[in-house]
Amino acid sequence: MEQLTRGLLLVLLFPCCLTQTTPRTDRLKVRLTGFPRKHNEGRVELFHKGEWGTICDDDFSIVNAHVLCRQLGFVEATGWTHSAKYGKGSGKIWLDNVLCSGSEKSIEQCKSRGWGNSDCTHDEDAGVVCKDERIPGFVDSNVIDAHVDENKIEEVRLQPVVVAAKKKLPITEGVVEVKYKDGWAQVCDLGWTIKNTRVLCGMLGFPHERKKPNSLNSSNLEHPSKSYFHVHSVACTGTEVHLAACPLEFSKPNSTSTCVGGSPAVISCMPGPLFMQNSSLKKKLKISTNVRLKGGARLGEGRVEVLKDSEWGTVCDDRWNLPSASVVCRELGFGSAKEAFTGARMGQGMGPIYMNEVKCVGHEKSIWSCPFRNITSEDCQHMEDAAVRCNIPYMGLENKIRITGGRTQNEGRVEVLSADPNGTLSWGLICGEGWSTKEAMVACRQLGLGYANQGLQETWYWDSSNVTDMVMSGVKCTGSELSLSQCQHHKTISCQKAAAKFSAGVICSETVSDLVLNASLVQQTVYIEDRPLHMLYCAAEEDCLSKSAAKANWPYGHRRLLRFSSQIHNIGRADFKPKAGRHSWVWHACHAHYHSMDIFTHYDLLNANGTKVAEGHKASFCLEDTDCHEGVSKRYECANFGDQGITVGCWDLYRHDIDCQWIDITDVKPGNYIMQVVINPNQEVAESDFTNNAMKCNCKYDGHRIWLHNCHIGDAFSEEAERRFEKYPGQLNNKIS
Ligand SMILES: *[C@@H]1O[C@H](CO)[C@@H](O)[C@H](O)[C@H]1NC(C)=O
Ligand SMILES: *[C@@H]1O[C@H](CO)[C@@H](O)[C@H](O)[C@H]1NC(C)=O
Ligand SMILES: *[C@@H]1O[C@H](CO)[C@@H](O)[C@H](O)[C@H]1NC(C)=O
Ligand SMILES: *[C@@H]1O[C@H](CO)[C@@H](O)[C@H](O)[C@H]1NC(C)=O
Ligand SMILES: *[C@@H]1O[C@H](CO)[C@@H](O)[C@H](O)[C@H]1NC(C)=O
Ligand SMILES: *[C@@H]1O[C@H](CO)[C@@H](O)[C@H](O)[C@H]1NC(C)=O
Ligand SMILES: *[C@@H]1O[C@H](CO)[C@@H](O)[C@H](O)[C@H]1NC(C)=O
Ligand SMILES: *[C@@H]1O[C@H](CO)[C@@H](O)[C@H](O)[C@H]1NC(C)=O
Repeated sequence: MEQLTRGLLLVLLFPCCLTQTTPRTDRLKVRLTGFPRKHNEGRVELFHKGEWGTICDDDFSIVNAHVLCRQLGFVEATGWTHSAKYGKGSGKIWLDNVLCSGSEKSIEQCKSRGWGNSDCTHDEDAGVVCKDERIPGFVDSNVIDAHVDENKIEEVRLQPVVVAAKKKLPITEGVVEVKYKDGWAQVCDLGWTIKNTRVLCGMLGFPHERKKPNSLNSSNLEHPSKSYFHVHSVACTGTEVHLAACPLEFSKPNSTSTCVGGSPAVISCMPGPLFMQNSSLKKKLKISTNVRLKGGARLGEGRVEVLKDSEWGTVCDDRWNLPSASVVCRELGFGSAKEAFTGARMGQGMGPIYMNEVKCVGHEKSIWSCPFRNITSEDCQHMEDAAVRCNIPYMGLENKIRITGGRTQNEGRVEVLSADPNGTLSWGLICGEGWSTKEAMVACRQLGLGYANQGLQETWYWDSSNVTDMVMSGVKCTGSELSLSQCQHHKTISCQKAAAKFSAGVICSETVSDLVLNASLVQQTVYIEDRPLHMLYCAAEEDCLSKSAAKANWPYGHRRLLRFSSQIHNIGRADFKPKAGRHSWVWHACHAHYHSMDIFTHYDLLNANGTKVAEGHKASFCLEDTDCHEGVSKRYECANFGDQGITVGCWDLYRHDIDCQWIDITDVKPGNYIMQVVINPNQEVAESDFTNNAMKCNCKYDGHRIWLHNCHIGDAFSEEAERRFEKYPGQLNNKIS
């Protein structure tokens, strides 16, 4: 009988599911619920006339269970249960005496007494056990969606147990509260396990859970419980990224009977080092050193990069999902993942691609412990780089900063909240002196507005009807701080021009460019040329030779030039455009084009202690799209006073044989050096990442010939490999990659 049914089922299954044309909304919603249970079993509930209800076990059979399991996306049922094995439901008992023949697509097509017609009680609620195998291509995962319907949990938070703790952010321990459509409610702790705590800590932005200290229990709550438990019987496995993915039960609003003998759930979480207040504990916490996030606009998001053989590479997005993304988030000291991005949503990497089809379960300590496939160059391209957005703890930093006077929500004078000696809080401006892109980056990050497009030292052109006093000066950031208060600044305010029109301003942006030099092309194209002076008049005019050239006996003699090609890619998410408008571009008659940036790159040769022995010159260029990746069209060109810039996905190529594309090494003695190219060195134009703007090579010069080794962009190597590299002039033999 069983075999027969199964055979029948398989025949029916595929026509049903492949030709499904009924719109999703019209289909009967079915869910599995109850406690304790696994994801493929539970009490059956049906959503009818806006209400969830159960099925009575009278006349129930495995055939009914098959129909239900299929409807839920499982291939078949392995069993069914009676007498409310997964707990009693509440509300309606929708169906009774159900008799399916096995060919039905939905339980509502089976014979029964009709909707809501039943003489049962909830003690007779039926359940099913489905085979843990999904119908191929079945998209509507009712099992996971079960709690996302009308009982959707929108948010979770912790109410600190001691009220004074509310001031210290982040809040790491307290009473769990969940937000659903009617407001906030507590969670019943009956049957609570540390695995539930882990899931909640992850949602709150914390990588680890703590066993709650004894003093932390609901009997010593300063604000005693509201005794309203919307959620109970939570049974997470610990790998879920959201509470809604765990088996759990909802109570009717204001019913108190569902947590008899229990208390509100109280949890304690361990923050990552970035968010740890206690500095002695902070030092003890380790985060992963072979995984990082790059190119994200906000804290806790970015392209996933992994370190192998001392070199960073990316992860391909095939099968990239939330459990794998969460492993990355947690190992970096954040919570679980909020989103797992595919298709290079956080920009494309430049180096190797190391992993494909990463399949973490969710409890791994590192992405390196998860199963994955090694990649071959045919498998994947950087267009498929995986990225994440992690849950991060609420720090309240955005409440201590605001912008005013700008034309849009994304720009304005920066104001910070500060307290006078009496503790009165007030807003005040920041002195514009020394305010640069780095400070603006921190301000935009703190505001939650993404990247800094510009840092402004003068803001007189913005509305100044409600300006406040200046309260901060001498701000100096490294660029990676979470808030301006973490940057250096004067103890007492000192500002030459204290008027509001000279206060610091920002223009923030969700997307900016990111320029990167192709290091291997530099290495491949390098050579020496002795160029006669009579061919260098134009170059001298553009300041492309070293100082000693002025003393040469023009036009007799020559200069020794280290030549190479530069291919500059824009791997960011916005076009790179010169800061200066075209009205201020300078015409260079010699080369017959406009220069839009004074200093676009530095080309230098450094000795062992970092001293410049030859300076490339101020390399000012005309920016354009020389070529682009497939599917991207060129937008910028120099000719005919054209628009200058580099489009996302395109590159600007300066061939080794064009004028000024060199370092003048006429005065350099033979030896070992480091050759360095820095793009956009003054950070004049916004980029998402400045750590990849420098490219370095080991350089050996014997007086006649020149060799470059280990050419790499600034952030491509591990710190340890970078230290080895810097020592190169002393020891020659350590090829790194
Ligand atoms: C709650 O904590 C207090 C100490 O603050 C302790 O005496 C009490 O036994 C604890 N209660 C429970 C149920 O753990
Ligand atoms: C629940 O009870 C509180 C007071 O005890 C009341 O304010 C609230 O409106 C009730 N909510 C519902 C949904 O009945
Ligand atoms: C920091 O943590 C250590 C170790 O748990 C503890 O001894 C110390 O008192 C804490 N310091 C502060 C300021 O909380
Ligand atoms: C990937 O390649 C490395 C060597 O490059 C090897 O050690 C490793 O076992 C391979 N991993 C897989 C999953 O094939
Ligand atoms: C602080 O409070 C004292 C007494 O209320 C008052 O005299 C003084 O002006 C206050 N100082 C500031 C900076 O507001
Ligand atoms: C200036 O402040 C006044 C009073 O608070 C307010 O009505 C007005 O809109 C503000 N002007 C601007 C430009 O913000
Ligand atoms: C960098 O240059 C090398 C050598 O010419 C080339 O093979 C490679 O495709 C270039 N990389 C990119 C991303 O264009
Ligand atoms: C290091 O720099 C100093 C000052 O620029 C210079 O005098 C010294 O010779 C340099 N040392 C080496 C090893 O290049």
